[in-house]
Amino acid sequence: MKRVRAKTKQKSKPKKAKAKKAFVAKRKREKRRGVRSLRGKYKHLDLMKGLVEARKEERKRERERIPPKSQKTKARANGRRVVREESPAYRVLHQHDLFESEKSNGQKLGYSPAYGMPAFTSFRSVTPGTNLSSLNLNWREVDLPEKERTKHVHRLHPYLGKFIPQLVEIFLRKFRPKVAYDPFAGSGTTLVEAKALGIDSIGCDVSAFNCLLMKVKTDVYDLRKLEREIRDILERLNKALTSSLFGEKASSIETESAYLKRWFHPNSLAELLLFRELLQEYEYTDVLKVVLSRSARSARLTTHFDLDFPKHPQTEPYYCYKHARTCEPTQDALQFLNRYALDTLDRIKELSRVARPNKTLILHDDARFARLPKFDLAITSPPYVGLIDYHEQHRYAYELLGLPFQAEQEIGAASKGHSIKAKKNYCNEIGEVFANVRRHLKPGGHVVIVVNDKNDLYDYVAQQTGFVVEQRLKRHVNRRTGRRSGDFFEEVLIWKAND
Ligand SMILES: C[S@@+](CC[C@H](N)C(=O)[O-])C[C@H]1O[C@@H](n2cnc3c(N)ncnc32)[C@H](O)[C@@H]1O
Repeated sequence: MKRVRAKTKQKSKPKKAKAKKAFVAKRKREKRRGVRSLRGKYKHLDLMKGLVEARKEERKRERERIPPKSQKTKARANGRRVVREESPAYRVLHQHDLFESEKSNGQKLGYSPAYGMPAFTSFRSVTPGTNLSSLNLNWREVDLPEKERTKHVHRLHPYLGKFIPQLVEIFLRKFRPKVAYDPFAGSGTTLVEAKALGIDSIGCDVSAFNCLLMKVKTDVYDLRKLEREIRDILERLNKALTSSLFGEKASSIETESAYLKRWFHPNSLAELLLFRELLQEYEYTDVLKVVLSRSARSARLTTHFDLDFPKHPQTEPYYCYKHARTCEPTQDALQFLNRYALDTLDRIKELSRVARPNKTLILHDDARFARLPKFDLAITSPPYVGLIDYHEQHRYAYELLGLPFQAEQEIGAASKGHSIKAKKNYCNEIGEVFANVRRHLKPGGHVVIVVNDKNDLYDYVAQQTGFVVEQRLKRHVNRRTGRRSGDFFEEVLIWKAND
C-alpha cells in the first residue's frame, strides 16, 4: 500500500509542475498579446516617442550651433568682441514691413496682443451699416493666407509697397461709392477691387510703369485672342532660340543701355531683347510688356534673397540665405518668359470671372495737380518719407520698355532722405494731394487712408485741407518673414469732407 501511495505521489509532482509551467507560459503569451494590441491601439505613443527623440536631437543641434555663454564671456575678457554672424532678413514685398518698431516677440509666438478676438474674414458681409470699429483687422497668416492676398491679378508683377486687397474691399463695401479714387494708385489694388465689386474707379500715379501695370490688370480682354497671342509668341520665341539660327537671330539685337548690359548675363539679355522685338507685333502688347518686365526682374544678376534692393550685379556663385545653399546667378530668361506668360494668362482669366464691366480711368500724373472727374470716396496708401524709390524699384522695366523716368516728382522718395527738410516737404506735398482730393470730392464724401502715421501728421493735414477725422483704426501688420522681431502697427484713417 505504502509503495503504491509513494508511486502516485511521484507521478503527480511532475504533472503539477508541468501544468504550472503551461499556465505561466499561457499568461505570458496573453500578456504579450495584450501589449501588442495595446500598441496597436496607442500607436501614436510610438510616434510621440519618435517625435520626442527628434526634438531632443533638434535641441542638441541647436545647442551646438549657439556658442555656450562661458565662451562669449571668456572672449570678452580677452578684450575681443564677440560678433555673432547673422544672415540678412529675407525681405517681403510690403512697404509696411520695412518699419521696425519697439518691443514684443508677437511674430515669433504667432500672435500679438492685438489678436485678442477672432480676425474678421467674412468680407462679403460688410454693408454700409457695418460698424467699422467692431471689426478686427489684425490678420495673421492663418486668417488671411498669402494665396488670398495675392489672388488673381494682384500677383501679376512684384511691387514693393502694396496694401492688402481685403482691406480695400471692406471700405468699398462699407462706403459703396459710385466712383472711387486712388491718388497713389501704385500697382492698382484699389482699381482691381473696385472692378470686382462693380464700382467705377480712377487711379493716379506719377510712375509710368505703375500705370502700365494698372492698365493691364483692369483692361477688358478677348480671352481667346489673348491666349492665342501668348501661345504664339512663346512658340516663336522658343523656336528661334533653339534653332540653329539662334546665334544670328538673338545676338543680332543690340541695346545701347549700359544698365541692361551690366545687370543681365548676355544670354538672358539676348532672350529678353528678342521677346521685346516680337511683342510689338501683337494686339495685347501691354500684357506682353508686363510679362517681359516680370521676367527681366527675375533674370537680373542678383542674389535670390535681395531682389528688391540689389546694389551690385552678382556675377559669381554665392551663399544663398533664402535656399540655404550655394546658388548661381541666372544666365537664362527664357524659363521665366515661358512661365510668367502662362501665369499672366491664368491670372487675367481668373479676374475676368469676377470682374464687372465698370469703367476704370488711369491717370499718369502728379496727384497734387491732376484734373479729376468727381468721385465720392478716395481710398489710398500714400508713400512714406524716405522709404522707397518707386521708379528705381522697376528700373529694369524703364530701361527695357523705354518709359519716361519722372522720379523727381515722387513724394517721399528714399533718395530725398529723412532730413527735417525732407519731412517738411513731404508734409506740404501730401497736403497738396489731399487738397486736390478735397476739390474733386462730392459733398458728404469720405477719404480712407492706410498709413503708419508715427509723426501724427495726418490729423493736421485733414484739418488744413477741409476734412474732419471720423475714425482712426489701428491694425497690427503681420510680418510674414518671421525673421524680424517687434510688432508693427498701421492705421486706417477715415475722414469726411467738412461741408
Ligand atoms: C504706397 S504706394 C501705393 C501702393 C498701392 N496702394 C498699391 O496697392 O499698389 C505709393 C505710390 O505713390 C506714387 N507716388 C509718389 N508720388 C506721387 C505723386 N506726386 N503723384 C502720384 N503718385 C505718386 C508712387 O509711385 C507709388 O506708386
